[in-house]
Amino acid sequence: AKVRHFKWTVEYVYWSPDCVEHPVMGINGKFPGPTIHAKTGDTIVVDLTNKLSTEGLVIHWHGIRQLGTPWADGTASISQCAINPGETFQYRFKVDKAGTYFYHGHYGMQRSAGLDWWHKSVHEQEVGLNSIPFRWINEPQSLLINGKGQYNCSLAAHYNISSSISQCKLKGGEQCAPQILHVRPNKVYRLRIASTTALASLNLAIGNHKMVVVEADGNYVQPFEVDDIDIYSGETSHSLTKYLPLMGTPQPPKNYERRILLLNTQNKIDGFTKWSINNVSLTLPSTPYLGSIRYGLKRAFDAKPPPEKFSSDYDVTKPPVNPNSTYGSGVYMIRLNTIVDVILQNANALSGNVSEIHPWHLHGHDFWVLGYGEGKFSDGDEKKFNLKNPPLRNTAVIFPYGWTALRFVADNPGAWAFHCHIEPHLHMGMGVVLALGVEHVNNIPNEALACGLTGKKFSKQKQKH
Ligand code: C2O
Ligand code: CU
Repeated sequence: AKVRHFKWTVEYVYWSPDCVEHPVMGINGKFPGPTIHAKTGDTIVVDLTNKLSTEGLVIHWHGIRQLGTPWADGTASISQCAINPGETFQYRFKVDKAGTYFYHGHYGMQRSAGLDWWHKSVHEQEVGLNSIPFRWINEPQSLLINGKGQYNCSLAAHYNISSSISQCKLKGGEQCAPQILHVRPNKVYRLRIASTTALASLNLAIGNHKMVVVEADGNYVQPFEVDDIDIYSGETSHSLTKYLPLMGTPQPPKNYERRILLLNTQNKIDGFTKWSINNVSLTLPSTPYLGSIRYGLKRAFDAKPPPEKFSSDYDVTKPPVNPNSTYGSGVYMIRLNTIVDVILQNANALSGNVSEIHPWHLHGHDFWVLGYGEGKFSDGDEKKFNLKNPPLRNTAVIFPYGWTALRFVADNPGAWAFHCHIEPHLHMGMGVVLALGVEHVNNIPNEALACGLTGKKFSKQKQKH
């Protein structure tokens, strides 16, 4: 196994991802950032310097479980303090298994600078979401593949075509020129696919060709042929509800020890539009959970744990009777090694006859997807769970008005985010935090603790010396 060392600087640069120039967050002057090639067992070390000058920064390594390194998970307010302008933070973690992964910002709405592309800055989008009246971000202006798209060219993304729109006349050297994959006939090629969208659910096909799916979220599956794949934000490879894990994939334990029901609703708080889980809209505290729990700083977040279920007479087919919700920063405290079932329950949004798709992503663990169903989950649905060969994933979708059942063994000590991967939804409160075995976490780097109450605690200690 190798140690692979990288030095990355993040700063705003002018770029034309979709042929329209805007400031974008670049890594080492480029957009998108560099690809890391590594093998199972390798250690990745990234010295990340924030040169954004106006905002904090963290990077999350989506799909890497961070076994034994929860402080390297890159979630602001959860695993670490945001890296301040001018500061450097070192991410050091092991590649725990082969697969296709991606990385992205996990502070504010920084991830919205990804595969779907808006001409409005992330900051303007954020202000709109936090305004009365509410301003939705709407559809992205472009879709980018490997950072390249063509705004307003629709099907005209060809070279040297006579187009009336000057930006659509591409020669091939432009930043927005579509990437060409040169292939030979009758050869088999591997494509690594990740949906880094902030909003869109996509479908991917290769004209006149079939694809064989072999891996999803870092887990091999029994190969199967498809014409196209549906892919939701946060998924690598794809999300058919019916596919089989490869032989040798661990099976889920037969019983759960704790079941958490999570009702997903759209709500209002003081006139602002929010998303809530069991009527709590997540607000992140200024002291990251990992440090505050490790050092017993109880005032850092809501002492009251969030609810384990929702009222059994809630009608998921109608807008909420009482749309009022509350902010909360409480944590699901889970005993280490507990077998946990999570039932994600979808419901009607604020307006009638609207229920959206939400791709939920768990940090620090993979889970088995035991089943999907329509309507409200009931105990009888448990009989239909697939315990024989359920797929192992880190992201799973809840379909409109439906439920999705997940099982995982909470065996990786840390404080972990579990949330809808649609960036504006997370920003509006659609997530929860799980904490387990934090007392076993040692060697949290000081830089990860240098804010909020942990910051105060450690700077006081320093002064005493
Ligand atoms: Cu890719 Cu917490 O997300
Ligand atoms: Cu969502």
